[in-house]
Amino acid sequence: MELAYVTAGESHGPGLTVVVSGLPAGLELDHGLIRADLARRQAGYGRSPRQKLEQDDVEPRGGLRHGRTLGSPLAFFIQNRDHKNWTAPMSAWPVDEAELEGYGWRGQPVTLPRPGHADLAGVLKYGHDDVRNVLERASARETAGRVAAGAVAKALIATIGITVRSHVLQIGTVRATPPAWLQERDFDRAEASEVRCLDPDAEAAMIEEIEQAKRERDTLGGVTEVRAFGVPPGLGSHVSAAARLDGRLAAAMLSIQSAKGVEIGDAIVSSTRRGSRVHDEIFHSDDRGYHRKSDAAGGLEGGMTNGAELVIRTIWKPLPTLMRPLKSVELGSHEPRDAHVERSDVTVLPAAAVVAEAGVAWELARAAAEKFGGDAVGDFVAAHAAYLERISRA
Ligand SMILES: Cc1cc2nc3c(=O)[nH]c(=O)nc-3n(C[C@H](O)[C@H](O)[C@H](O)COP(=O)(O)O)c2cc1C
Repeated sequence: MELAYVTAGESHGPGLTVVVSGLPAGLELDHGLIRADLARRQAGYGRSPRQKLEQDDVEPRGGLRHGRTLGSPLAFFIQNRDHKNWTAPMSAWPVDEAELEGYGWRGQPVTLPRPGHADLAGVLKYGHDDVRNVLERASARETAGRVAAGAVAKALIATIGITVRSHVLQIGTVRATPPAWLQERDFDRAEASEVRCLDPDAEAAMIEEIEQAKRERDTLGGVTEVRAFGVPPGLGSHVSAAARLDGRLAAAMLSIQSAKGVEIGDAIVSSTRRGSRVHDEIFHSDDRGYHRKSDAAGGLEGGMTNGAELVIRTIWKPLPTLMRPLKSVELGSHEPRDAHVERSDVTVLPAAAVVAEAGVAWELARAAAEKFGGDAVGDFVAAHAAYLERISRA
């Protein structure tokens, strides 16, 4: 069965529901690790107080017994703790006008679409007259559901030795210089950094740039990098467009709110170089088997993993809600106004890195489940071992 997930829920509704289907039975899930990933998504220098309000956790609603998957759909509920301030405005069932009045601005319709958000296209497309009907779902609060699904994916791929790590490469104009040929243990520094940065000099400059943008009531974008270790060759496929893992990974990244570009390996600099300097030459030794001495391809050739580390960079736009509002136009009256400011962070790059990490883990798990299959997790692990044994003789 194909691995799939869906999320439901609005930013100020009761919470988010995430349903993961196609998981093998017997997969052990660690509640602490899932909570830790949710907390990592909420952390980061430059975020607003809402992140302190929401202390995310998953409440299992199906598919899990005594910490192990049953092979049935796995459902998690993630409560929105802020919902208590929005019960009538976000009620699923009709409420009286009088009840809404008690909520002040929260009870009023939003009629000023914000530039850079889904607001204007969303109200036009769906025929809404209240932008809240769009912004509640377009909000990146939804990424909590993605991170929960990603944590489950990480548990699955960990059974075959794959790990996925992330760091922030750039915030605004400040670009980090991480150690060359990153090892997995190097990423521990990102976990200890408020901006998830591996370069201490750049870290200080990033914090300074965030402070400056905050003073100017502005926002910042940047670049994140996700690396996957222990990936076998042959996940994904060259045989059809839909099977290519490079395309799937790019789609997983670009479907994240505010992600605007994806770079696989050293694609951007490689585009300026001669082919002789770009392609990772192939070597073989008895102890390492087939291997490369460089990884400009970022571990992907022909839509498949090639056995090298996966390197996926994501390019993020500056957040669209500025505390210094941009110009917009009132729906219906077309009166020019300053855009509605709900709340906003200066930058979410540290959180975005964690969401990107979840997306890469998910796509690797999906490709691994296709390749190794199995109704029980033991079948999945055994198929992976048999495959490694076969290719070791190639
Ligand atoms: C983790 C995360 C948190 C975000 N928080 C905010 C925010 O506080 N303010 C904001 O304006 N945009 C925020 N965004 C980005 C918007 O959700 C996004 O830009 C908007 O929905 C429009 O989608 P698009 O940028 O993909 O076109 C966040 C994105 C992510 C990944």
